[in-house]
Amino acid sequence: MGISLIVHSGAGDDIHDGLVEPFRRGVIEAAKAGWSVLQNGGSALDAVEMAVRVMEDNPTFDAGRGSFPNQAGEIEMDAILMDGATLNNGAVAAIQRVAHPISVARLVMERTPHTLLVGAGAEAFARSMGVPLVPTEALLVERNDAPPTAGVSGSFLPVQDTVGALALDAQGHLAAATSTGGMRDKMPGRVGDSPIIGCGAYADDSIGAASATGRGEDIMKVILCKSACDLMAGGLFPQQAAESIIQYLARRVNGQGGIILMNPQGEVGCAYNSLRMGRAWVNPDGEIVAFV
Ligand code: GLY
Repeated sequence: MGISLIVHSGAGDDIHDGLVEPFRRGVIEAAKAGWSVLQNGGSALDAVEMAVRVMEDNPTFDAGRGSFPNQAGEIEMDAILMDGATLNNGAVAAIQRVAHPISVARLVMERTPHTLLVGAGAEAFARSMGVPLVPTEALLVERNDAPPTAGVSGSFLPVQDTVGALALDAQGHLAAATSTGGMRDKMPGRVGDSPIIGCGAYADDSIGAASATGRGEDIMKVILCKSACDLMAGGLFPQQAAESIIQYLARRVNGQGGIILMNPQGEVGCAYNSLRMGRAWVNPDGEIVAFV
């Protein structure tokens, strides 16, 4: 079985020219890290966790370090990880003071009887698992990227650097992971699509895997990732399914966002309706291809 990997670093209308190169470098670095895991015989779960951890460490992106603070100046992060072999998944929402929410999500999946822990409970669980806590200041990054006034779709989508990764391992198993600091200037306690199964991510060995970015309030209305996987189950190639579901998001709820998809054969697709979206994948020749 061939291995496959695709990552994204979010879609947005204010990924301006000055951010293109940092985005490109960031997705390439994440793809390399995830690919190395797969090449060394690691599982799809290990590969997506590694790729997302690399992007959580990158202050360019709105995940982990670099997450947008909420209106109270706090950083509250959401993440989910899903195993396509078992449909097991783990997620955290509005978690504070951890550098790698995706790894806490994996611990929720593997070490608790639950699938989603939020807020103080998620942080207490992380601490109990030996995850080091970091001060909010260590996650805050000064940004001076002034947003433009209108996006390509007419209404403006503030940068959504939510990050995500999909992988197929040598055993034929798929996995998906998504992590975010959420939307800019969100209310305290606001949770978007990212940690919600079927919305921010989905993986099922028999139909495919997906990770989403964009305005969570829109994405949740159409259960974007599961809906896209169902399109692949119905016979669409990943690129066709990605384009179809993003058109539906726009048509049905005036939604804005992007998605990456992978089918059980490891073929990938990506579509978005914002100005830009960072993404990288490994082509059949083993070369990393990146676009922003
Ligand atoms: N898609 C990320 C969010 O809305 O929080």
